Amino acid sequence: MDFFSYRGGELHAEGVPVSEIAGRIGTPAFVYSGGAFESGLTGLRDAFGRTPVSVCYSVKAASNLALLKKVADLGMGADIVSGGELFRALKSGIPASKIVFSGVGKTAAEMAEALDAGIMMFNLESEGEMDLLADVALDRGVAAPVSFRVNPDVDPRTHPYVATGLKESKFGIPWGEAPALARKALSLPSLKLVGLDCHVGSQLTAAGPFSEAVRILAGLAAELKASGAGIRYLDVGGGLGITYRDESPPSPAEYAKAVTEAAGGIEGVTLVIEPGRSVAGNACVMLARVLYLKRTPSKSFVVVDGGMNDLVRPSLYGAYHEIRPVRAPSQGAPLAEATVVGPICESGDFLAKDRPLPPLAPGDLVAVFGAGAYGFSMSSNYNSRPRAAEVLAEGSSWRVVRAREGYGDLVRGESL
Ligand code: LLP
Repeated sequence: MDFFSYRGGELHAEGVPVSEIAGRIGTPAFVYSGGAFESGLTGLRDAFGRTPVSVCYSVKAASNLALLKKVADLGMGADIVSGGELFRALKSGIPASKIVFSGVGKTAAEMAEALDAGIMMFNLESEGEMDLLADVALDRGVAAPVSFRVNPDVDPRTHPYVATGLKESKFGIPWGEAPALARKALSLPSLKLVGLDCHVGSQLTAAGPFSEAVRILAGLAAELKASGAGIRYLDVGGGLGITYRDESPPSPAEYAKAVTEAAGGIEGVTLVIEPGRSVAGNACVMLARVLYLKRTPSKSFVVVDGGMNDLVRPSLYGAYHEIRPVRAPSQGAPLAEATVVGPICESGDFLAKDRPLPPLAPGDLVAVFGAGAYGFSMSSNYNSRPRAAEVLAEGSSWRVVRAREGYGDLVRGESL
């Protein structure tokens, strides 16, 4: 099903004309389709068929409580990278026992919070982190369930900023060092080695790198099991790409097949996946309103009221996001090249560069597609702009799930 579609010449989110949302709550606004988000989650889970798999949605992609509540209602878990994400996940009803804690820089305080909550496992990224967790757990008289995030040195063939599985990256334990570290973990009574983990990058558009990485992980798991580690989980991370423009990433079925085949028949092991973008990315559009058309001798600009503080991906990664007018242009309307920019005082503030666009006028609404993953969650108050509203559309109804910030929010916690 197409969750965002034109009906009667108007863009709809499920059954809701998005112009109605913009008219009532203003712009910029992130409009999620509940159905798209849920089907992203269930589609991945179902693709694994009878292979045991735990879906731990990667909270960083889009972390609104209303979305996380859907994860909880589907009986799924979460991949978190901070105490703040733990707080969100628990608040939305995701059980601690379904939460995995990733990230290279966990603090002792965050470790303690996650231990007290009783999470499923910590994905450890270095010996230093392992030592600290062992101490924190010892203090609390518990054994911390851990998995090693190994760095398989696999090229994910993606943007360098989101490639994480190459040996030059800050992430993971070089896979050759994992057996020695495992021996140490097994000797520490406050740690329980229960899994192995990897995440080689984001927006992967081929299955090959997943297979390569998981094969390394599975080989290592077999080796560690043989030396007495109770490996129960093989966490293969996130990373499945989506179509922003013309990419053709593996389907959930192709992805699941690549992962399960590479994992081989390791007895008694549950796969864990940490999808973010493939669930949230195309489940949301960002609405913005055209403020001005500005022509200079060398360029045409469309100035809109959403900028890099709202959606930073074009500025930060040179990412492509489809932009379409909310009211469908008349058939045969001429296209003219324009650069869509926001109000931020930086030349790097753009949503699209030199893009063929149908005629637009001040006051028109545009929709920026693929804004669900790393959209609102990476937004900021730069230029003292209150953060945008988030809306959830389901069927023919919609509701605000995060109110637009006001000026008071901008100075909260500050003093004269
Ligand atoms: N697990 C771990 C340990 C991760 O670091 C990530 C993403 C994920 C799972 C989820 O990956 P996904 O399924 O979303 O690809 N801000 C960037 C993406 C950064 C990804 C960071 N890690 C962007 O907008 O493209």
